[in-house]
This record gives sequence, C-alpha cells and structure tokens, in this order.
Amino acid sequence: MSTLLPFARRAGRPAPDTAEAGTRRMSTSEKFISIEGIARRYPAPWGKSTTIFNDLWLPMRRGEFVCMIGHSGCGKTTVLNILAGLDAPSEGVVIVDGQAITGTSLDRAVIFQGHALLPWRSVLGNVAYAVSSRWRKAKRAEIEARARRAIATVGLAGSEHKRPSELSGGMKQRVGIARALAIEPKILLMDEPFSALDALTRGTLQDEVRRICVETGQTVFMITHDVDEAIYLADRIVLMTNGPEAKVAEIVENPLPKDRDRTQLHHAPGYYALRNHLIDFLVTRSRTLRDAMPEGYDPRHPPVVRPSLSEADAAALATDPPARRA
Ligand SMILES: Nc1ncnc2c1ncn2[C@@H]1O[C@H](COP(=O)(O)OP(=O)(O)OP(=O)(O)O)[C@@H](O)[C@H]1O
Ligand SMILES: [Mg+2]
Repeated sequence: MSTLLPFARRAGRPAPDTAEAGTRRMSTSEKFISIEGIARRYPAPWGKSTTIFNDLWLPMRRGEFVCMIGHSGCGKTTVLNILAGLDAPSEGVVIVDGQAITGTSLDRAVIFQGHALLPWRSVLGNVAYAVSSRWRKAKRAEIEARARRAIATVGLAGSEHKRPSELSGGMKQRVGIARALAIEPKILLMDEPFSALDALTRGTLQDEVRRICVETGQTVFMITHDVDEAIYLADRIVLMTNGPEAKVAEIVENPLPKDRDRTQLHHAPGYYALRNHLIDFLVTRSRTLRDAMPEGYDPRHPPVVRPSLSEADAAALATDPPARRA
C-alpha cells in the first residue's frame, strides 16, 4: 500500500502561504481559476431536491493541467459544464481571471468526447468557422491561415478538405482539438476526450495534447476515468468521492517530472505509489469517504497529498537505478 506525505495542513489551522514551495496553499494571486463553494441540485419527486455535489472548492494556477477522476454520476461533467458556462451552480461561484463566470466565453474552449463537428463542412471549414466566430472582423485569408496552422498542429495537414464522414474517430477528435486550439482560448476543458478511441490513437493524441499544452502554456481541466492518462498528463489530480453529495476527497500532486516521457513513466520514482494510490481510491476510498470524511475535513481546503516512494518504487530503483537506465 502506498504511504502518503500529507502536505502542511492541519484541520482548522490554515497553512501559511509562505510555507515551503510545493507544500503550501495557493495564494489568491496565483488562482487563475477559482471554484468557490459550488453546489448543484436538481429537483426530485415530492418537492425534494437531489444534491449532486456540495460545497466544492478548487483553485487552479495559470498553465496548470488538472485532471478530475471519480465514479460515474459524481458530477464531473456538471463541474466542467459550469466551468464552460453551459450550466450554472445552484450555490457558489466560479471566478476566472478575476471575473465570475456568467455564461459561455471563447476564452474557455470545450473538447467533448463526441467531437460535435458540422458534418456538411470540411475539416478546414469546421475549424475556420470557430476562428471566424472569435475574430469576426478578420479577413478570410487570415481566418484560413489560422485554421490551417491549428490543423497542422494536430497532424492533419493534407486533410483540410475532407468531410467528417471521411475521417476516422481519431482524426475527428483531432479536428475537435484543432478547433478548440484555433480560437486561442485561455482555458481548455476536456470531458473524457480520448475515451472512445483505440489505445494507439489515444496514446498519440495524449502525446500531442501534452506537447501542445506544454508549448502554449494552456490551462487545462480534463475529466478522465483512465488512471494512466491522468498520471501522464496531469500536474494535479482531483479525486471526487462517489455521489450523490460528492465531495473533493483529495487533491493529488503528481510527483513525476514535468518533462515526463510516456515510455519511461513506469521507471520514474513515485510512479507506482501514485498509481496504487489512485486505484485504491477508485476501488474503495471513493465510497468509504463519501460515507464518512476524515475528522477535520475542510471542503475549502481538501487534503493535498503527494504519494511517496512505495516499496515497488524502491525495489525498481534498487534493481534499475536511473543512472544505469540512461
Ligand atoms: N438535467 C438533469 N436533471 C437531473 N439530474 C441530472 C441532470 N443532469 C445530470 N443529472 C444527474 O447529475 C449526476 C451527475 O451527472 P454528471 O453527468 O455530471 O456525472 P459524471 O460524473 O460526469 O458521470 P460519468 O462519469 O458517467 O460521465 C448524475 O446522477 C445525473 O443523473
Ligand atoms: Mg461525465
């Protein structure tokens, strides 16, 4: 079982913002996105209501890649829709770049699981349509140039004139990513964007999204059910308890280096501890924590954890130290 190094946090005693880097709470000025005490309720029979989640708090830094993991129905898509401005919380507020969200914005692009392309438009037409809605007064040549650049970024140069019906699932998803990137949003919101793809295409697209996000400094909020995808992509992984009345159980800091390499991930110190921790959470703790959160749990400041070296990591390092692997 993985051991955890709890961060500098004690129930009811906030850690000072000046604590050691990497173990401190996010200061107000660092919060690019701030989910503040949001709840989502739906009407239920007999005049009652169902609370999907309640008192949810989550800050995100500019340029951060945050993944959310939790079982079906805990409200992940609802959170993403609220971030996109497609849904509104029953309580609480989301602040982006100092302003409360009141609706959709071209600063926040959504990449859905189903790519939602316009079937009668070509690849270029789909992406150019998004570009023209962002820069309404732009000349046609400029719109096309921007669209072509985004299409090339996702590796689809040469397919500009194909219609969605002529594309594979992976290619369609690339168009969806190109369309989102082309409008140069400040934030990318992705709801299980690769889950419908075969493993090979999924891996390639994960590599591309990771490269693009590192290069452009995008701030990303992504929902996934795939533990390995979260480990590869995320800086932090938000773990939701089961619903209803889901909560942020923990925020897990990814200890793997930012310039991680997919093929070497399993050799990185901390990899097994992190993976085991996420799987333990999904298998048991997501349910037990929903029923009883630990004493002193503060929804405003969910526990931040950084899985430490597990026995498996230590054994891997002992038999195959990094110097030998280089
Ligand atoms: N319009 C609605 N009316 C009533 N309940 C709704 C509505 N939309 C969503 N819900 C409920 O809210 C809960 C959370 O839904 P949501 O789609 O956010 O879950 P999720 O975590 O994304 O699940 P999954 O992993 O299956 O995608 C579900 O129980 C769902 O039935
Ligand atoms: Mg969902």
